[in-house]
Amino acid sequence: MKKIITIAGSNSQKSINKNLLCYSKGIIENIEIISIDLNDFVLPIYGVDFEAENGIPTAVKRLDRLFDTADGFMISLAEHNGSYTAVFKNTLDWLSRVNTKVWREKPMLLMTTSPGSRGGATVLQAASAYFPYMGASITDTFSLPSFYDNFNGAEFTNEDLKEEIQFKLQKFQTKVKS
Ligand SMILES: Cc1cc2nc3c(=O)[nH]c(=O)nc-3n(C[C@H](O)[C@H](O)[C@H](O)COP(=O)(O)O)c2cc1C
Repeated sequence: MKKIITIAGSNSQKSINKNLLCYSKGIIENIEIISIDLNDFVLPIYGVDFEAENGIPTAVKRLDRLFDTADGFMISLAEHNGSYTAVFKNTLDWLSRVNTKVWREKPMLLMTTSPGSRGGATVLQAASAYFPYMGASITDTFSLPSFYDNFNGAEFTNEDLKEEIQFKLQKFQTKVKS
């Protein structure tokens, strides 16, 4: 069976991006899903001097090996000050030291949500521009704006957005399975 990895770009216990991923996982059929919580991969802040002195942390190698097994990635990024959260960027920087093609040329559905009306548009723009250089084959991007107005914690309350995410999830699944 094909396997996808899901990652929320947040270390919050109440992450709304984890919420969006949880909904999305419920739509996926006949694909194994490995959900990664960045809290399970606590890493030192990346620095060239730290790496020269200590090498690559075991947790990074563990994550990298997990990525080797993936047939696709479903990512939902939290936006902090118009960019990646510190925990996500730090993890990405470490992973890129093991393999610059972090995303392994596999299909990726790239999502974001925020309570604001721009719905993480800035971090989505940054990731969709740069992730292809890290080996991402982005099938679609999806932004869920005004999270609390459009999602009730388990289900979309906005029908247009629900239709959009379902279409994009189907397309992603087809790519992963092909
Ligand atoms: C330090 C900080 C910076 C933030 N910056 C932004 C921002 O630039 N854009 C935005 O839409 N929301 C911003 N927010 C609000 C987050 O979108 C909100 O906390 C959201 O819940 C984060 O996603 P998460 O719940 O998955 O962690 C910020 C929140 C924090 C704590």
